[in-house]
Amino acid sequence: MHSQDNSQKKWGAATHAIHGRPDKTYLSPTFPIYQTSTFAVAESGDFAPLLEGTAGDAFVYTRYGNPTVANVQEKLAAIHHAEVGLLFGSGMAAIAAAILSQVKAGDTVAAIRPVYGGTYAFVNQMLPRAGITTHFITPEQAYEIEKHVPNANLIYFETPANPTTICIDIEAVVNAARRIGAKTVIDNTFASPINTLPLDWGIDLVVESVTKFIGGHSDVISGAVLGRAEHAEALHQQLIYYGGCASPIEAFLLDRSLKTLKMRVLYQNDQALKIAQFFEAEPVVQRVFYPHLPSSPDYLVAKKQMVGGSGVMALDFGSLEAAVAFVDALKVVVNAVSLGSVESLVTIPVLSTHARVDDAERLLARVNPGTVRLSIGAEDFDDLIADFEQAIQKIPVTA
Ligand SMILES: Cc1ncc(COP(=O)(O)O)c(C=O)c1O
Repeated sequence: MHSQDNSQKKWGAATHAIHGRPDKTYLSPTFPIYQTSTFAVAESGDFAPLLEGTAGDAFVYTRYGNPTVANVQEKLAAIHHAEVGLLFGSGMAAIAAAILSQVKAGDTVAAIRPVYGGTYAFVNQMLPRAGITTHFITPEQAYEIEKHVPNANLIYFETPANPTTICIDIEAVVNAARRIGAKTVIDNTFASPINTLPLDWGIDLVVESVTKFIGGHSDVISGAVLGRAEHAEALHQQLIYYGGCASPIEAFLLDRSLKTLKMRVLYQNDQALKIAQFFEAEPVVQRVFYPHLPSSPDYLVAKKQMVGGSGVMALDFGSLEAAVAFVDALKVVVNAVSLGSVESLVTIPVLSTHARVDDAERLLARVNPGTVRLSIGAEDFDDLIADFEQAIQKIPVTA
């Protein structure tokens, strides 16, 4: 008998990800898609308890809540050791909601660079319009926040950071934030909850671009915010009043993705480490950045806070010409932005994600013209290595 008790915190991530809400009607092990915008009441008087939230496990309107979406939210919260989890229409919607749930006009946000380009633009352009002062700081400045932005109300960061997997010490940021009474919001997209559980390190809110490792099949755009119960109301207001809710059909796809999340990410960790070692031994690659490579400048931090190094690495081919020759010769790996999917994906940041980023910003992000971001999928290891070997042969010797 399939019975629901996913509140058992002793369960591991895979068990929570597989066993969510039960289908009480037909006992289907797959939770159904409630593809509906609204839910009926038997009598008009039944609306009052629904609106007050005292009607138990009942739903009014899908922007406020939906069973298929709730199933995924509950799974994500359990996996993240969170008390509240909310699903949004994209990672960016989740990032905006997490930040705006914590600050108001007159407050100050300190964001640690580098961050995903969309986040940079949101913090740099949108927050000031809402009367919020923003500062971009280095990880080292964040560790001594009282010297650099002592009036920060919120510290925002991502680790490993897009696109070159710079790792930021979560514990050091949390300690610094606590010294000045600031809140912390982290983007955990590159790590995924299989590699890092930021709430266990004392982070206030975690965001995930669910589009990436959690979705894992390049077919869903979604985001999530996870945190403690004290933040539930403020987050829910962001969801219902800005309206960036996730759709039931996407939640259904995510429910299916979650069931294989742990095995996918562990496999991707394993493949990526071996592939990073392969590239490290290739003279044509000048530098490999992968969190769990001992040569990584972030190795100690990554080992402390990440179970595995994740599926993403950055390679420096020394010149744009060499990077383009390599990427254009790949036959198995797909040349597309995004990451974390079962298909291996590759992109040249200066031609895609960082095309409009200035030189100073690129330098901070360790992005050179020859940088290639590679997200390892779930293909056969030997096929990937063969693809890389033949693509390396296509790099002109003069490049
Ligand atoms: C680290 C990181 N955070 C957030 C986002 C935004 O997520 P979404 O595209 O789901 O809005 C991305 C997208 O590439 C990302 O790489």
